[in-house]
Amino acid sequence: MEEVQTPIIPIVGDLVRSTPGTISLGQGMVAYGPPRQAIDALAGVPSDSRTHQYGAVEGTSELRSALADKLRAENGIAVDGSTRVVVTAGGNMAFFNAILAVADVGDEIILQTPYYFNHEMAIGMAGCRAVLVETDDAYQLRPDAIAKAITPRTRAVVTVSPNNPTGAVYPEKALREVNELCRARGIFHVHDEAYEYFTYGEVRPFSPGSIPGSAPHTISLYSFSKAYGFAGWRIGYMVIPASLEEAVRKIQDTNLICPTMIAQTAALGALSAGASYCKDKVRGMAEVREVAKRAFAEIASFCAAPVTDGAFYFFLRIDTPTAPLALVERLVKEFKVAAIPGTAFGISKGCSLRVAFGALETVTAAEGIGRLVRGLRSIVKG
Ligand SMILES: Cc1ncc(COP(=O)(O)O)c(C=O)c1O
Repeated sequence: MEEVQTPIIPIVGDLVRSTPGTISLGQGMVAYGPPRQAIDALAGVPSDSRTHQYGAVEGTSELRSALADKLRAENGIAVDGSTRVVVTAGGNMAFFNAILAVADVGDEIILQTPYYFNHEMAIGMAGCRAVLVETDDAYQLRPDAIAKAITPRTRAVVTVSPNNPTGAVYPEKALREVNELCRARGIFHVHDEAYEYFTYGEVRPFSPGSIPGSAPHTISLYSFSKAYGFAGWRIGYMVIPASLEEAVRKIQDTNLICPTMIAQTAALGALSAGASYCKDKVRGMAEVREVAKRAFAEIASFCAAPVTDGAFYFFLRIDTPTAPLALVERLVKEFKVAAIPGTAFGISKGCSLRVAFGALETVTAAEGIGRLVRGLRSIVKG
C-alpha cells in the first residue's frame, strides 16, 4: 500500500473545508440525485424479505435482465452465450474485478495518460504494473504507441471514453483499432463507459463491446453514479467474456458477497427512467461548458484547455514553473476556488489541473470558473 498513491480528492477536500466559501471544481460528481422512479421502487423494500438476505453474487436476475435489454438497445452489446453481465458496487469495483480476473502478480496493464487515478491505484494494489502511454495533445488515443507498449507480460489495455480526466471521446475508428490490437495480441480490452451519456453536440460514444467477434477479449464497465445520481448508492456493472465468469464470481463473492439488494431495487427503478433522465441534466452542463470554453480562451497564451466532447472536465496545461499542488493551494487560499493537480492523473511533466464542472449549479460553476481564470492570471502572470 505504501507504493500506491494517496487519493488526492480528500486532500483537496480538506483544503476546501479549511477555507470557507471556496468553490470546488474538484470532485467529479453530479449535482442531482436519483430519479423519482428509483425512489418509488423502494416503497416495497421494508416488507420484501428478499432485500434483507444475501442475493445472487452477480446481481438479481431482474436487474441483470433489464441491463441486458439496455446494453442491446443502447450499446449494441449482445448479452448471449458468449458474455455475462455482473452487477457491482460501482464502476470502481467492476474495474478491480476485471484486473484481478485477468492478471497475475507482476503482469502489466496499459493505461492512457492522463489516467483515472483509481485505475492506476487498483493495478498497483493487484500487484501489477501500470504501463503508461501518453495520449496526444488533444488527449486522443495513439494506437501505434499502445501497440509498442505491449510486452509478453501485458494482460490488458484500458480505455475510458468519454474520459476522466480529459473529457475526450474516442472515435469509433481508434477504439476499433485498439480492440483489434487486443484480439490480435491475445490480451483484453477493458473499456470504461461511466460517462456514456455525457457528450455534447452531435458526438456519440462508441462501445467496443458491440464489435462483432469482440466478446472473448472485451470487458465493458458501467456506472450508475453519474448517469443516475447514484454515487452514494453504489451500483455499477460489467459485461465480461463468459470465460471470466468463474473468476469474477470468486472475486465478487469474497469482496462483496452480493451487490446491496436495496440499491439494486432502486437501480431497476432508475432504468425505467432511462437515459433521458441524465441527458436532460447534460443540457444544463453544456451551458457551463460554454462559459468555461470562453473563459479559458481568454488565457490561452499561457493555459492550453483542449476542448473535448464529453464528461464534465477540462484538463488544463499551464505554462508555469509552479508545482500543481502548490498552485491549487494558492488558488484555494487566495482565490477560493479548487481544482485537482494533474499529478494525480499521472502527469508529472509541467503543470496541469483537472477542472470538474458537473457538481455545481450553473451560476456557481460560472463564478468558480471566473475565480479560476482570475487566479491563474494573477499567479502565473503576476
Ligand atoms: C472513469 C470512471 N470510472 C469509474 C468511476 C467510479 O464510478 P463508481 O462511483 O461507479 O465506482 C469514475 C468516478 O469518477 C470514473 O470517473
